[in-house]
Amino acid sequence: MSTRPRPPGARNASSSDAKLPLPQLEEMKRRGQKIVMVTAYDAPGARLADEAGIDLILVGDSAAMVVLGHSSTVPVTMDEMVFMTRTVARAAKRPVVVGDMPFGTYQVSDEEAVRNAVRFVKEGSADAVKIEGAGPSVERARAIVGAGIPVMAHIGLTPQSATMLGGFKAQGRTAEKAMRLYSDARALEAAGCFALVLEAVPAPVAATITDALTIPTIGIGAGAACDGQVLVYHDLLGLYDGPAPRFVKRYANLADEIRGALGRYADEVRTGAFPEEQHTYAMPDEELALFEAATTPREG
Ligand code: KIV
Repeated sequence: MSTRPRPPGARNASSSDAKLPLPQLEEMKRRGQKIVMVTAYDAPGARLADEAGIDLILVGDSAAMVVLGHSSTVPVTMDEMVFMTRTVARAAKRPVVVGDMPFGTYQVSDEEAVRNAVRFVKEGSADAVKIEGAGPSVERARAIVGAGIPVMAHIGLTPQSATMLGGFKAQGRTAEKAMRLYSDARALEAAGCFALVLEAVPAPVAATITDALTIPTIGIGAGAACDGQVLVYHDLLGLYDGPAPRFVKRYANLADEIRGALGRYADEVRTGAFPEEQHTYAMPDEELALFEAATTPREG
């Protein structure tokens, strides 16, 4: 049995692997029990998140930046997102797995939105999908929910439309814009969304929206009154070297750890300190003797 300390809320290996039922999230909101979401993009990340007791895993289109090396979330494709979602879903037993629909896969029509959401569920084994924005996204959400697929909404700073919003900036900072967020949130709830991400929204605005909804709000840069919080895996673990937004809290600095370990490995290979005897395989002496006899060049 492991003697390593486990983080608060962590599951042990014998905990139930049963999937967290979606209606439980509203129940958690009613009880004032905070909901924890994190992004993940592969099986090891999903397994660690599950073992740490995370409730929801978002296979975010942030993958475009933190995994695939793009400078925005826009270029990631359906195939790439479905592939990553499938690897996450394989490893995440209890957390609800949400596949983030990439830019261009739900904007054109309800039919296309439903077709692509179905791919997330059928091919990616997602439990739910997330779409950004309000306006036409309200009808898209209604159509996807109508097809039997749970939808998480996302308003405030919506990175897929950052150019339209004037860059990666906080949203809803005037009474008029805050009112718009408020009515968008209510419209998305009425369309059947099961949760709402609020990104980079002033805390009092997020608090009012949270109070007005029955579905849980999941904040990222939206203050402590939200029903839950989400952070990007690479941001919270210090794996991403790019500039971090104000709302990121770093809980580890794994980039330094990894650089250090890779540097020590490279040094040891170059100096011959690795591999050692314990990292190699032996063979029976008589077999080695036969092998050596057969491969030793004969004289004459
Ligand atoms: O793609 C993503 O990681 C997200 C979160 C920041 C909510 O949308």
